[in-house]
Amino acid sequence: MPEEHLPFSEEYTPGREAYLDFYRKSIEDIEAFWDERARELVWYRTWDIILDRSNPPFYRWFKGGETNINLNALDRWVGSSIFNKAAYYWEGEPGDRRVITYRELYREVNRLAWALRNLIGVKRGDTVTLYMPMIPELPVTMLAVTRVGAIHSVVFSGFSSQALADRIIDARARVLVTVDGFYRRGRVINLKESADQAVAIARDKGVEVEKVIVVKRAGNTVPWSGGRDVWYHKLLDEAPERVYVKPEPMKADDVLFILYTSGTTGKPKGIMHSVGGYMTYVYNVFKWNWDPRPGDVFWCAADIGWITGHTYIVYGPLMNGVTQVMYEGAPDYPDPGRIWEIIDRYDVTTFYTSPTLLRLLRKYGDEWVEKHSLETLRILGTVGEPINPEVWKWYYEKIGKGKAPIVDTWWQTETGAAMISPAPGISLVPLKPGSATYPLPGIVADVVDYTGEPVKPGEKGLLVVKEPWPGMLMGIWGDPDRYVRTYWSMFSRPEKGIWIYYPADYAVRDEDGYFWLLGRADEVLNVAGHRLGTIELEDALLTHPAVSEAAVVGAPDPVKGQVPVAAVVLREGYEPSEELEKELREVVRRLIGPIAVPAKILFVKKLPKTRSGKIMRRILIALIEDRPIGDVSTLEDPTAVEEVKRAIDEFKKLMKG
Ligand code: PRX
Repeated sequence: MPEEHLPFSEEYTPGREAYLDFYRKSIEDIEAFWDERARELVWYRTWDIILDRSNPPFYRWFKGGETNINLNALDRWVGSSIFNKAAYYWEGEPGDRRVITYRELYREVNRLAWALRNLIGVKRGDTVTLYMPMIPELPVTMLAVTRVGAIHSVVFSGFSSQALADRIIDARARVLVTVDGFYRRGRVINLKESADQAVAIARDKGVEVEKVIVVKRAGNTVPWSGGRDVWYHKLLDEAPERVYVKPEPMKADDVLFILYTSGTTGKPKGIMHSVGGYMTYVYNVFKWNWDPRPGDVFWCAADIGWITGHTYIVYGPLMNGVTQVMYEGAPDYPDPGRIWEIIDRYDVTTFYTSPTLLRLLRKYGDEWVEKHSLETLRILGTVGEPINPEVWKWYYEKIGKGKAPIVDTWWQTETGAAMISPAPGISLVPLKPGSATYPLPGIVADVVDYTGEPVKPGEKGLLVVKEPWPGMLMGIWGDPDRYVRTYWSMFSRPEKGIWIYYPADYAVRDEDGYFWLLGRADEVLNVAGHRLGTIELEDALLTHPAVSEAAVVGAPDPVKGQVPVAAVVLREGYEPSEELEKELREVVRRLIGPIAVPAKILFVKKLPKTRSGKIMRRILIALIEDRPIGDVSTLEDPTAVEEVKRAIDEFKKLMKG
């Protein structure tokens, strides 16, 4: 691990002591610290208890408080200079552009909120599923839903109809908002068709979506179901032009939204975030991460379908009154310079993206970067995966021209916003390429061994968080036991009143106390910054009649970080073939979505298993990564290892070729 301290311009005089001083004070009395932070926001009623610890790990922040996130994202700007400035510079993939001011956003959210309540019948506490691409109507709809006190569940538009249906069913959503189509690599993706299929699947399972609201984006022909389907623009037309809908007073510990993420079972988890805690955490962390200033143009090049977009394209920036760029399409379309061109067009000051995108753009060659000035960039961020030091340096030198610090943010869907990252908004610590530096204020993180004992500096261990924080998930929708089991059972000692959050990430803390995040410690893959459960993929493969057993593991990939590779045992009567491999990949595409499609299907006669029948994925992983396979004494049939090794060697030859 390289540990050199890189020079910064005067503006970024490294302030390690100043930061650590602030940090230490923040954790001396966590409750007092967050109390003060929450008071910077608008509430209908302040809380009685800052943190209710009476029923751990079901911590409840700002108990007794009442607010609505709209108050802070929109209403507080009414009558201020921010009201007239751009909230979004939006750019469609074909090159069409829109500027939406805070005023326009406020008006449209109010009108949609009015229509949702009065024409569609959305009530406080209802769940509304959003299956939408990166168009301004997505943040508008999220805000309108939370404005009337309903809960949104945004499903990434790259997910398949089956994946959407699973999420509609689990959330029991009666209203779905989608689009006719959107642009991706020059093609129109007919999203309404997938939405309709999902509604049909849900109906078969007894969940009736009563209304489907459709935004007209691409103008393509779509299937239509009279009585059920309504155009978004028609709804808005019916709403009075300057209508005001009072943001529903919500309890701080009501659910603000659900967002599904993958775990170690086949069923995705509906992560619930709270109204008051999420609002407070996101508002503050946004400030710490990006040090927002009046002239800034912020661009988070993620998709709102993931937590990064919820926090850093919708709620965080709007609560800070920041102007943003929002882009609909593929990052390298029509050419690999698209991202850099957009940065120059809007004078972006703060750019936030994933290591995967950086690796992709770097591969295209520096000539694409050099055509653009990029001189306005002031802070650069990354999220979603560990960033390789070489890519970090490229980002720092080539994109930031040695002037912009790299803010590597470690966090998860469950944590609401960044947890470990530099905080130029407080005081920038010297950076080390590949390290997310220190925990943010109020976050008590550590690295421990399997017994829960802190490991020595420089030793690899498991990351833990030892105190609650306001952005933490409230639980898993409809499954409180899974919440306790997944996040709180590894290291907690309830009998001693000790509760420790377990994110399932490997980490190292070095001599200077810097954190280095090293990837997942559970059966979850990180493909291009997207979380995928290996079991989800295996379940999908097992639906094909040819498949008798399947094991999915991650193989290292130079751009995507990891790609799924499946080892599959066929049933009697089926033979391996290219045709069958194609079919199996298609099954995964249909059941989950294109992001989950295995890079390779390895056909094997048997899989390494324990005597009790559990597939030993770690052996496959070791073989793929060229590491010793370790203890195999529990292996049922050692010849299975040879078999898998042969298949993996072939795969590697193929990858090299
Ligand atoms: O393994 C960590 C990795 O992404 C996981 C969380 O995935 P998700 O909930 O989809 O959220 C991604 C965006 C916040 C983590 O458990 N991860 C996230 N950020 C980093 C990271 N790994 C290393 N460095 C990061 N900066």
